[in-house]
Amino acid sequence: MEKLPLAVVVIPTYNEAGTIGEMVDTLCGKIFPKIKDWQCKLLVVDDTSPDGTYKIVQDKQKKYKNLELFLNPTKAGIGGAYIKGFRHAMNVLKADVLIEFDADFQHPPKDIPILLNEINAGYDYVLGSRKIKGGSNPKGWGFKRLFFSEAGGFVARFVLFFPGKNFFKITDPTTGLKASRVKGFVDTMDMDHLYSKRFGYKLEFLFKMVQLGAKVKEIPLQFGLRTKGESKIEPKTAKDIFRSVFLLRWNDPSTQKFIKFGCIGLFGFAINKIGLDIFAKALQGVINTIGIRNTIANALAAEISIVSNFTLNNLWTFKNEKLIWGKKLIQKFVTFNLSSVISGIVIPSLVIGAGTQIFGDSYRTLFLVVAVFFITVPLNWFVYNLVIWKRSPEKAGKGK
Ligand code: GDD
Ligand code: MN
Repeated sequence: MEKLPLAVVVIPTYNEAGTIGEMVDTLCGKIFPKIKDWQCKLLVVDDTSPDGTYKIVQDKQKKYKNLELFLNPTKAGIGGAYIKGFRHAMNVLKADVLIEFDADFQHPPKDIPILLNEINAGYDYVLGSRKIKGGSNPKGWGFKRLFFSEAGGFVARFVLFFPGKNFFKITDPTTGLKASRVKGFVDTMDMDHLYSKRFGYKLEFLFKMVQLGAKVKEIPLQFGLRTKGESKIEPKTAKDIFRSVFLLRWNDPSTQKFIKFGCIGLFGFAINKIGLDIFAKALQGVINTIGIRNTIANALAAEISIVSNFTLNNLWTFKNEKLIWGKKLIQKFVTFNLSSVISGIVIPSLVIGAGTQIFGDSYRTLFLVVAVFFITVPLNWFVYNLVIWKRSPEKAGKGK
């Protein structure tokens, strides 16, 4: 008989004696036997719950061969429990897919085969979403709980992904229902250095899976009400989630690059301004027509700031893609110069010209700001990354 791929459903538990027995019966007794194209195992990761959750699991193990228990001697936090469970599932059980699931029936067990079908369809990371058509939050949630969930989800989405395509694509970043492909994804992930071992780990896994290039698919999740036991979500959970997403984004190499790019851009602007004043003064008495004098003064100053921007970005922002002296550097510098003139002079001038023509002269500064922040900055960032300091494919393949 051909060996089926293995899906391990990982359920962390802390004081879930009220539901774990029924959950084990539902998954091992009803759901798993119906799944024909996967071998399924349930792994409960219990932190030696004072209410004896693990004893119920140990008792059920007599009945179900595909029920595993990982007993933690101390409370690990939900993230800590998942990490231990994932390691065990990958290294000992040899899982091909890992499913994150809760013990309290807030995630419908019937969603498990749906997650696996999407993995079959070629997706690497399947997420239950309360925000897409067919998904929902519990009817019984009050305004406050709903507000925190919505606001938290939005902030997480924004901080992690804006303005990338995943900001629009991943609608429920704090979801707890997920299926992850092991090979090439979870098995290459660094799980030793997580910012959070509590609920924030969810965002960290999400961010890392996306960075690893996982093909993401959302399925609708009708998140239920907890009927027994208590939620382990603490007041500090919101803080933990914000802290995690902020640290993830801040420490991401592309954020660090963007900050350097911004600093150099500001510095270039200062050089331009100071240079303009110096050249305008020096040319007094040489060129008498003010307009021509200032045009030439600014052209000289702008060129100096372009050279400075190019040099500093090459040595600092894009030091990993650094261009070294030679024909290629000269070619790239010419391109850089041309694109700087277009993005930094031609386009803003046209925007300011057109804007003030239509709306009046009092909007001059506004159009300057709009042009610089919404056109020049993004355009330069785009050109620098994709043209001037484009990563060579073999370098990109080796990672950071
Ligand atoms: N082992 C272990 N250790 N398990 C824990 C711990 C812990 O410290 N803390 C929580 N758990 C287990 C619970 O026993 C439960 O099985 C599961 O993790 C989820 O905990 P809940 O307390 O039910 O979380 P929730 O319902 O508030 O939050 C759920 O929904 C959120 C979306 O609103 C979770 O799925 C979250 O991950 C999700 O973000
Ligand atoms: Mn719950």
